[in-house]
Amino acid sequence: MKRILILVAAIGLTGAATAPALADPASDLKQFQDFFKKKFQTVKFDDFANGLYVLPGNEDYLEQWKAYNEFPPYELGLANGKKMWETPLKSGKTFASCFKNGGKNIAQHYPYWDQTTQKVRTAEMDLMDCAKRNEADFKFLTADLGKEQGARVPLAELTAYFYSLSKGQRISIDLSQPGAVKAYEEGKKFWWSRRGQLNFACANCHMDLAGKNLGGNQPLSAALGHTTAWPAQRLEWGRIETIHFRYMTCNSQVRAKSLKHGSEAYNHLQLYETYMSSGLPLSAPAMRN
Ligand code: HEC
Repeated sequence: MKRILILVAAIGLTGAATAPALADPASDLKQFQDFFKKKFQTVKFDDFANGLYVLPGNEDYLEQWKAYNEFPPYELGLANGKKMWETPLKSGKTFASCFKNGGKNIAQHYPYWDQTTQKVRTAEMDLMDCAKRNEADFKFLTADLGKEQGARVPLAELTAYFYSLSKGQRISIDLSQPGAVKAYEEGKKFWWSRRGQLNFACANCHMDLAGKNLGGNQPLSAALGHTTAWPAQRLEWGRIETIHFRYMTCNSQVRAKSLKHGSEAYNHLQLYETYMSSGLPLSAPAMRN
């Protein structure tokens, strides 16, 4: 924590990136991606999908990461997810039956705006709905996912497998409906709002301080590419986790109250973050620090 404060004092947040005022998603996107292209001119666009490892100064982390990728620790969790995906549910159908194209090459459009319910839907939500419709009784259908790791991790593993079926597909989010744009605007507001005792916005760490090392093995990733690896496995956690769990931990790092896993506000934040990574290839599940 102290290190964060020192860093912040050092750069002085007067020069911080600021939220674009009245703008439309397409011009927000250009501004956001240009910010990182300018800040990290040597990083190739597609490489931003690989998180903090590709940023200048993190070469040691990159080497370590490559070594991990030879026998990725997430393989075990991913295999659990695959088994869940392939095992018939009580109705006799499998998860694939609930998705277009059997669930292949569609995750790049998640999260998406659903016209019928007028809500943003995540892959986790669709997987849970599918389980319910097919009379499955997974623990994750009833548990408080923020609190119950034993229920959340299987959902993360299943979601990781779902995303792995779309590996390499480029993020493409449809914001053509007015409701989608409204949800996007809410996510954008969340991203740029300062919160917690540290009075930090997501943007302060993942834009202003991106590429800096907070010490104690805590280099900071650029927000560009933020969602491409998730569900992901962190060395520190030793298990595959959902992106909402990541959001919860980022909120508590600045001593702000985290929101509920699966809350609408996190769905909107995920929509905003994912749209900002438009064009990048999905790499989930991946290893992360
Ligand atoms: C105090 C600094 C700090 C703030 C503020 C912060 N984070 Fe993080 N975040 C981290 C650290 C440290 C990590 C782990 C290293 C990394 O990948 O950046 C991380 C990781 C992440 C990741 C995973 C990135 C990847 O490539 O796997 C996401 C996504 C993320 N944060 C989103 C957010 C969002 C959204 C907010 C605002 C609600 C936020 N963070 C606020 C410090 C912060």
